[in-house]
Amino acid sequence: MTSPAVTTPRVALVTGTSSGIGAAVVKHFCELGHQVLAVDYNPAGKAIAEDAGAVFFEADLTDPGACRAAVADAVKRFGGVDILVNNAGIQHVASIETFPEEKWRQIMDLMLTAPFLLTQAAWPHMRAKAWGRIINVASIHAQVASPGKAAYISAKHGMIGLTKTAALEGGEQGITANAVCPAYVKTPLVDNQIADQAKLNNMDEKEVIEKIMLKQAAIKRLIEPEEVAQLVAYLASDAAGAVTGSSFNIDLGWTAH
Ligand SMILES: NC(=O)c1ccc[n+]([C@@H]2O[C@H](COP(=O)([O-])OP(=O)(O)OC[C@H]3O[C@@H](n4cnc5c(N)ncnc54)[C@H](O)[C@@H]3O)[C@@H](O)[C@H]2O)c1
Repeated sequence: MTSPAVTTPRVALVTGTSSGIGAAVVKHFCELGHQVLAVDYNPAGKAIAEDAGAVFFEADLTDPGACRAAVADAVKRFGGVDILVNNAGIQHVASIETFPEEKWRQIMDLMLTAPFLLTQAAWPHMRAKAWGRIINVASIHAQVASPGKAAYISAKHGMIGLTKTAALEGGEQGITANAVCPAYVKTPLVDNQIADQAKLNNMDEKEVIEKIMLKQAAIKRLIEPEEVAQLVAYLASDAAGAVTGSSFNIDLGWTAH
């Protein structure tokens, strides 16, 4: 993986780091010389974080107190939070008619309320340095919908609203906020969806990948987590100082239709 030639070392708090995109972001940030607090509820994330050179903070981000504690830990340990990457997410596939209310609430708590609370807690530390980068890992499902994912799609669309509002409020304070919107990335979250979609649509798993996941894609492959990490790292860099309030699709051409 190539890195930008010059990167100012910063303090980064990244959520959802025990696998997939979050683990790739942590690894890339550590390679760039950032101090990273990797936050996840899965204790398996400790070894992954430490292998990369990050510090692990175990927290269930559906708990508001845990969101605030994660930021407080980064501040105590590293003296602030310069970069916040809201990445933790889950998926639940079911039609609206059968969607369990508790899953809806869990998805909203983790994927919309936690990013808000983490942004709120990190904000004064970014403002104090007149420098901050908020990167929200949204989804192509923040731009378009698909059947069977009401809560996920609603939360991701909401995340774009949070991103735009943070950008407007942060403009005079040196704080930028942007979203990245990937199509299907090769991670455990997608592995689980393949199985769920197969059941929902009465297909085998190969058919799900070809007929559902890659149907809209111009480039017929899944995305690598490291490809998303590179885009996140750009948005977190000094070079991206004029970029705010935007959503960046990394979607294999899905939305070019
Ligand atoms: N994989 C894709 O195709 C894809 C596409 C678009 C967007 N995304 C988004 O990227 C983000 C990362 O997804 P991924 O594919 O890497 O998934 P993943 O399942 O590999 O990783 C998600 C991480 O979130 C953590 N997490 C889940 N619930 C948590 C909780 N309550 N508290 C703290 N941590 C929790 C998990 O332990 C895991 O480490 C998600 O927000 C997802 O919606 C993924």
